[in-house]
Amino acid sequence: MRSLLIAFSILALALPQARAQTSHHQHQSAPHRENAMHHHREKSSHHQGKAAPSVQQGATYHPNTPPGVQIANFGKSQSNVPIKLYTLTNSNGISVNLTNYGATLVNLWVPDRRGKFEDIVLGYDSLTPYFTNSPYFGATVGRYANRIARGELNLNGITYPLPINNGPNSLHGGKVGFNKRIWAAQIVSRKEPAVVFSMTSPDGDQGYPGALQTWVTFMLNNQNELVILYEATTHRPTVLNLTNHSYFNLAGEGNGKVLHSLVRINASRYTPTDAHLIPTGEIRSVAGTPFDFRTLKPIGASIHQTGGNPIGYDNNFVLNKPLFKQFGFAAEVIEPNSGRTLQVFTDQPGIQFYTANFLNGTIKGKGGKKYPQYGAFCLETQHFPDSPHQARFPSTVLYPGDTFRSVTVYKFGVR
Ligand code: BGC
Repeated sequence: MRSLLIAFSILALALPQARAQTSHHQHQSAPHRENAMHHHREKSSHHQGKAAPSVQQGATYHPNTPPGVQIANFGKSQSNVPIKLYTLTNSNGISVNLTNYGATLVNLWVPDRRGKFEDIVLGYDSLTPYFTNSPYFGATVGRYANRIARGELNLNGITYPLPINNGPNSLHGGKVGFNKRIWAAQIVSRKEPAVVFSMTSPDGDQGYPGALQTWVTFMLNNQNELVILYEATTHRPTVLNLTNHSYFNLAGEGNGKVLHSLVRINASRYTPTDAHLIPTGEIRSVAGTPFDFRTLKPIGASIHQTGGNPIGYDNNFVLNKPLFKQFGFAAEVIEPNSGRTLQVFTDQPGIQFYTANFLNGTIKGKGGKKYPQYGAFCLETQHFPDSPHQARFPSTVLYPGDTFRSVTVYKFGVR
């Protein structure tokens, strides 16, 4: 975790500058972008023929990029705005592709215990299917990750109606959530490659009060940690819950179900829900329930006892934290065949463990592969669902003058 401290100091240095630039220029200014591209060209020619030290040739379509940041075109938005794909590569050859459409994580290449790289996140090869056919693959979710009951937000005596887009409730920020927005992008570091996506959500956007300025920074360091820093400010009181909705399959995306993957979640309690996945308000012990992941357990071990429709995990776990907002270990996953591991760290109070219950093989993702039910898991760091209706849950209210700041780390390894 020492690397994290270094990462934070780099980000702390880089961000005020990035913020100044992005808030003044919603889209990166032309000269700047040209510089970035120029740098990228220089870099790639310099590295021509020299693969990063630990990149293996086993994977069939690993992009094999040199360490640093690369920018490529990723098509055009529905409003004809050019959309980019940013590749962050570390010195171990791990690379992540991010697009400024939805501040979305598109591909994530990591090695198995033999050094074979595979892409471990579900998604699409091209931009277009992300417009209408994505169950939030890799997306930045906002303004409010997960559900707000009846789409009813009461704040300071005023009721704000939110879009109802999931049964009787509002899910993931409404019909046009942050996952469907075009974000400005700024590369902030090439040594520890990082990109900041920023966006202003206007007052009243999807019914929510307050103009919300949001920055999401993705940084990939040489300790194989993908660091995601969320920051936001508002001009009127509002509520906020931001997360990343990556669907992981550590055996490789499209490579079957995740039921054999072993999971541990640092949570002694969870928030039970009603039939529409709204928390009842109870905070219940996981002891003796299928939600007990305090020690490593295969996802499939007790999935059929979870109830729900469709059956599977789709629950908020209350992370064990000695101190509120304390940054620490949240969860880990081990895929026994490949040996790939994922650890999640966060300062958020909760984590949504979702086993892609709503996938059913109809979505054809990357390479035309069909994604089955339980073909992935999500570990979405967050505040608890429907917090605005639960006085006992940690508050999600953000006030003018305050800055929301939160960090989540996904660390990749093998064993
Ligand atoms: C929710 C699921 C929902 C999914 C959408 C998850 O965060 O918990 O209930 O279906 O997102 O893809």
